[in-house]
Amino acid sequence: MATLFIQLSLFLFTSIQLQLTTSQSISTNIELPGSLTTSFSVIDYGAIGDGINYDTQYIQSAIDVCSASGGGHVIFPAGKTYLTATIYLKSGVILDIEKGARILGGTKLRDYPVVSKRWYVILAENVTDVGISGGGVIDGQGLKFVNKFDVKKNVMVSWNSSGACYGDECRPRLVGFLSCRNVRVWNVNLTQPAYWCLHIVRCDNTSIDNVSIYGDFDTPNNDGIDIEDSNNTVITRCIIDTGDDAICPKTYTAPLYNLTAKDCWIRTKSSAIKLGSASWFDFKGLVFDNITIVDSHRGLALQIRDGGNVSDITFSNINISTRYYDSSWWGRAEPIYVTNCPRDQSTNAGFISNLLFTNITADSENGVFLSGCKGGLLSNLKFINVNLMYRRRTNYTGGMVDYRPGCQGLVNHSTAGIIMEHIEGFEAENVNMRWHSNHLRGWNNPLDFNPSTVNNISLLRFHSGLYQ
Ligand SMILES: *[C@@H]1O[C@H](CO)[C@@H](O)[C@H](O)[C@H]1NC(C)=O
Ligand SMILES: *[C@@H]1O[C@H](CO)[C@@H](O)[C@H](O)[C@H]1NC(C)=O
Ligand SMILES: *[C@@H]1O[C@H](CO)[C@@H](O)[C@H](O)[C@H]1NC(C)=O
Ligand SMILES: *[C@@H]1O[C@H](CO)[C@@H](O)[C@H](O)[C@H]1NC(C)=O
Ligand SMILES: *[C@@H]1O[C@H](CO)[C@@H](O)[C@H](O)[C@H]1NC(C)=O
Ligand SMILES: *[C@@H]1O[C@H](CO)[C@@H](O)[C@H](O)[C@H]1NC(C)=O
Ligand SMILES: *[C@@H]1O[C@H](CO)[C@@H](O)[C@H](O)[C@H]1NC(C)=O
Ligand SMILES: *[C@@H]1O[C@H](CO)[C@@H](O)[C@H](O)[C@H]1NC(C)=O
Ligand SMILES: *[C@@H]1O[C@H](CO)[C@@H](O)[C@H](O)[C@H]1NC(C)=O
Ligand SMILES: *[C@@H]1O[C@H](CO)[C@@H](O)[C@H](O)[C@H]1NC(C)=O
Ligand SMILES: *[C@@H]1O[C@H](CO)[C@@H](O)[C@H](O)[C@H]1NC(C)=O
Ligand SMILES: *[C@@H]1O[C@H](CO)[C@@H](O)[C@H](O)[C@H]1NC(C)=O
Repeated sequence: MATLFIQLSLFLFTSIQLQLTTSQSISTNIELPGSLTTSFSVIDYGAIGDGINYDTQYIQSAIDVCSASGGGHVIFPAGKTYLTATIYLKSGVILDIEKGARILGGTKLRDYPVVSKRWYVILAENVTDVGISGGGVIDGQGLKFVNKFDVKKNVMVSWNSSGACYGDECRPRLVGFLSCRNVRVWNVNLTQPAYWCLHIVRCDNTSIDNVSIYGDFDTPNNDGIDIEDSNNTVITRCIIDTGDDAICPKTYTAPLYNLTAKDCWIRTKSSAIKLGSASWFDFKGLVFDNITIVDSHRGLALQIRDGGNVSDITFSNINISTRYYDSSWWGRAEPIYVTNCPRDQSTNAGFISNLLFTNITADSENGVFLSGCKGGLLSNLKFINVNLMYRRRTNYTGGMVDYRPGCQGLVNHSTAGIIMEHIEGFEAENVNMRWHSNHLRGWNNPLDFNPSTVNNISLLRFHSGLYQ
């Protein structure tokens, strides 16, 4: 019923617009297929949908006409697979990929624009009021970009022929919104991205709801959602199952304010939530709530390396299970990981302050790591209602602290409940550590810190005991 109502009201709205246009330029008399409704089916514009022939130009025509006539929905009818090179989303257009329809990204270099920063299957740039929905699938065919399968870490295709991209970062992303306003992505299934999946850059007012992301567990840089230099982003009800960081805010050219992510389920071979490591500008006002993190290499991570300052970040109602995977991936099964040592000697440290972790439970093979650095204290950290269960369950080597990228790299260090370095103000209230006595190879103390770098610790109802 709701859908019908919206379609009807859009129809009325468009009819009025068309009347106005007609009375202003009666002689033009352009006949556009579908122009009497706000829906434009790609089939009407020539798309075949056989998954073999490219439908790029037909999809693009439908989008261009839709946008030029004031916006609306571009429909990808169910039951078909639409193979395409890069398509450009225009202002006012919602891509409606029906349940049972699939957009298939091309796998050839010539399918993508010349400039590597525009390598996306779907790209929206400098536009407003755009979205993707409909219940269908966008498929990047990521496994076709694997040169050599390896359960530790796949070796991937590199398109670094012009030298314009670096190392393991030379493949297309799936969906990108660059410098956009009012973006909505909802009820859609993003699968097999070759590289990052959903990329939000310099955007304002973005909503991502009920999006499922299925990457590949062994593919490096197979990130879920990367949010860069953007304000006012809300992510809700997402499922992310992928190899690399799942929700990853970064700052390259401007600060990032107001990001909320809640009601999500995540599994990853890297960090489930990660701020950084690109962090040249500030992060402020981020909330992560009601999230389940399963069998990940790291749970909640701040990996600040480039001098940006981070403040007012809340993590609440989060269940985490972490385990070791191969050390070629960043992460050592830490449920919570905070570090800000500068990437290299030419960078200043960023300051991290006002972090709240509340209602958190973790079942982990490693402890919490909270590490400021000489020129950059961590200040005012609060842990309230935190249950940490510690046990080993894999045969991977423990007993190491992971400062990567840069800094001191991997350092031998016995495992502790919470390791703290360079901190001013740490408050724990109702923090409960439980230890599985049979699975504690390589562990030593519940709290590990040196009073010369850690000041103002307060423990209220702090409990450490063996698991019954
Ligand atoms: C988007 O805007 C930026 C900055 O103004 C400009 O450099 C870029 O060429 C624009 N891109 C498109 C596709 O219009
Ligand atoms: C990228 O390609 C350029 C030129 O082809 C080459 O000089 C450079 O070493 C390559 N870089 C990486 C990281 O692969
Ligand atoms: C944010 O975008 C939505 C559409 O996605 C729009 O309805 C809403 O008015 C926008 N809010 C602001 C403050 O621009
Ligand atoms: C979430 O999206 C899927 C399609 O990806 C759809 O089938 C399902 O109904 C949506 N759920 C809700 C609650 O809207
Ligand atoms: C998403 O698409 C993938 C690949 O087609 C499929 O395996 C998966 O079941 C779909 N998930 C949902 C929630 O629709
Ligand atoms: C986000 O807000 C900051 C602070 O107001 C501003 O400097 C920045 O340009 C905004 N970014 C976007 C993409 O609107
Ligand atoms: C962040 O959200 C607050 C509260 O809604 C709002 O007042 C502020 O303008 C937002 N910041 C930016 C940069 O949009
Ligand atoms: C938490 O998120 C799950 C989906 O992952 C949802 O089913 C549940 O209702 C949410 N809980 C609350 C209290 O909002
Ligand atoms: C976390 O686990 C508790 C206890 O099993 C459960 O009540 C709660 O709903 C879970 N929350 C999330 C976000 O998974
Ligand atoms: C971070 O804060 C410090 C101290 O206030 C300041 O000197 C520095 O410029 C800030 N960094 C950025 C990127 O704004
Ligand atoms: C923490 O959990 C308690 C009990 O489940 C709940 O009453 C409280 O609102 C939660 N706190 C937050 C910040 O969500
Ligand atoms: C760990 O090693 C032991 C002894 O070699 C073996 O019995 C066990 O199955 C291994 N466990 C895992 C999770 O691989």
